[in-house]
Amino acid sequence: MLVRDGMVVGLGTGSTVAWTIRAIGRMIENGLDILGVPTSYQSEALAIECGIPLTTLSQNPLLDLAIDGVDQIDMRMNAIKGGGAAHTREKVVSISSKRFVIVADGSKYVEVLNRSVPVEVLPFAARVVEREIIRIGGSPVIRQACMKDGPVITDNGNFVMDVSFGEIRDPAALAREISQIPGVVEHGIFTRIHELHLARNGNVEVIRRDDL
Ligand code: A5P
Repeated sequence: MLVRDGMVVGLGTGSTVAWTIRAIGRMIENGLDILGVPTSYQSEALAIECGIPLTTLSQNPLLDLAIDGVDQIDMRMNAIKGGGAAHTREKVVSISSKRFVIVADGSKYVEVLNRSVPVEVLPFAARVVEREIIRIGGSPVIRQACMKDGPVITDNGNFVMDVSFGEIRDPAALAREISQIPGVVEHGIFTRIHELHLARNGNVEVIRRDDL
């Protein structure tokens, strides 16, 4: 059992982890006693709907566990997140947690990461960040909203760029390069993942990384 009484648990964002949040809600109905830290307005609303008591990182800066989905994860447990533009809070919550667990289906599991990397940027710095991203070999596109004209505005009030780098052979090195660009708030490369719960061929396989 991943979630136990007394834990403070980070609640990720997206359609996969929504199943986990609903399952935690059912466990709370049956007496489980935990506090959740949501990573977005979406996971906050769902947690409230499911009756999960919430807290904040200000009140609980060290979490026992965080659970989240991914857009893509490789065999060395590096991942790309941010398809829903929630990766900045997701990363802060994941880093605040003693254990970070990913839930994913087989379609997300790849040999080499090759999806575009979401990069949250300060609107003020967007053009400068674009130029610097191109300098390190990326092709950035500012994500456009639907049902609203203009760019996506994140939960933190920023823009998001989707940056294609082709195959990402060294995710940690690329993560460092992107982080060094002034105006970048956070990128969607995640390299600190302790455990993957991978649903494929009718089973859930648990893959652990023990060097973190
Ligand atoms: C949110 O911005 C993302 O990081 C999600 O965690 C990720 O996109 C996975 O979402 P799905 O489970 O909906 O595929």
